[in-house]
Amino acid sequence: MLITFEGIEGCGKSTQSRFVFDQLQKRGMSVLWTRQPGGCKLGERLRAMLLGQEGSGLTPQSELFLYLADRSQHVAEVVRPALTAGKVVLCDRFTDSTVAYQGYGRGLDVQLLRQLNDVAVDGCLPDLTLILDLPVECGLGRARARNADQGQTESEGRFEAEETAFHQRIRDGYLALAEEDARRYVVILAHGTLDEVFQQVWKAVRARLEISEQK
Ligand code: TMP
Repeated sequence: MLITFEGIEGCGKSTQSRFVFDQLQKRGMSVLWTRQPGGCKLGERLRAMLLGQEGSGLTPQSELFLYLADRSQHVAEVVRPALTAGKVVLCDRFTDSTVAYQGYGRGLDVQLLRQLNDVAVDGCLPDLTLILDLPVECGLGRARARNADQGQTESEGRFEAEETAFHQRIRDGYLALAEEDARRYVVILAHGTLDEVFQQVWKAVRARLEISEQK
């Protein structure tokens, strides 16, 4: 079972996906938390490159190919073996990030991106995707506060520095994706407290994994 977490900057997907990890572990389930970019050795290097200063000079196309390289390697080395071993895999960003950011955000052809994603994941598709949705100003405010706290003004903060319209296109893109496939996507209203958001996230995960409330 592959569950992916998606959303704009500062939507809280990393925190929420880790909460899910804890809950599933508590229930004795075999679960892996991972992320894109950065969930394997090559990915860690690509992440530093993509989100650091080096990334600021990239063309949208070379940025795209680096995300795809990360994805292909990560699926082959980490995600598929874990799924084959029967684990629940929680992935912080996956194919939809490319469609939302490089497609809706940067303006690359969405259909082409879907095909390239298919090549990268080679049949490994999410069973459930949670889109944590909130207003762009709210997400960017959170992301900037987090970066300042962690002393990350530039590295890891490259996307936060893009103009608001870029992030609005990404948000709209995610919502358009959700409209296309109500079975795979669940949109979570992400501007509440951590607990309020988690209640929605957990409900969706529980339903998909068929975990009863009492367990
Ligand atoms: P984050 O996962 O810590 O939010 O950072 C990853 C950044 O990379 C985020 O700004 C979104 C961006 N990204 C893309 O643009 N395309 C992709 O395919 C992925 C996985 C991430």
